[in-house]
Amino acid sequence: MLGCHNISKRYTQKGGPQIEALREVTFALSPGDFASVQGPSGCGKSTLLLVCGGLLSPDGGQVLLAETDVYAQSPNDRARLRGRHVGFVFQQFHLIPYLSLRDNILSGSLAHERGCAETSAETLMTRLDLHDRAHHLVSALSIGERQRTALARALVCEPQLILADEPTGNLDPDNSHIVLQSLAEYAQAGGAVLLVTHDPSSTGYANRHFVMNRGVLRES
Ligand SMILES: Nc1ncnc2c1ncn2[C@@H]1O[C@H](COP(=O)(O)OP(=O)(O)OP(=O)(O)O)[C@@H](O)[C@H]1O
Ligand SMILES: [Mg+2]
Repeated sequence: MLGCHNISKRYTQKGGPQIEALREVTFALSPGDFASVQGPSGCGKSTLLLVCGGLLSPDGGQVLLAETDVYAQSPNDRARLRGRHVGFVFQQFHLIPYLSLRDNILSGSLAHERGCAETSAETLMTRLDLHDRAHHLVSALSIGERQRTALARALVCEPQLILADEPTGNLDPDNSHIVLQSLAEYAQAGGAVLLVTHDPSSTGYANRHFVMNRGVLRES
């Protein structure tokens, strides 16, 4: 489902030192894998998710998604591949502030031809306790509601791979449980999840555990 082979990524800034954000990262995820990635701030976790999801070109190595070499594709083909196979939950949410909660969830279906998104959005809003707020603008939502909306948007078309960056970072224990349980069920149903987290409780839900340090990823 996802394969990374010797991925490296460097950031260079004018006048500043070069930052080695990813160093020779190699791993693979199969259907049913729920993998957590933990590591200190700045070690490269968000960079890893962006590279895996086709949003940031690595400087070296290869990313395979659904048996396709992601960065060998044209930008349009890469966007289509991403739309078909990947759901993102970003660390900063990236919701659309002038759309309602419901329309933000449905925006996750724009790259799909499937007509099931409306039903799926209703189910997810109920499951994630968002139904009462369906028609509110994102700008009027609490941070926790925004985070659950971002998760619902990622899940709405049941992509094969979910890349989630700190999806419980702003949630209380009950809501964290709902989010982590939703991701675990999604993996049990045959999806794959790559979860970046600082939340120690998440390790109980994941079935594979990775640790990242200064751009180096190891399975523990
Ligand atoms: N666009 C960029 N330009 C320059 N440096 C960057 C850029 N994005 C990230 N970095 C640097 O690369 C390193 C890895 O960043 P990244 O965001 O992947 O870390 P992280 O593990 O997700 O951190 P956190 O837990 O704080 O979210 C950091 O040192 C960061 O400052
Ligand atoms: Mg990060």
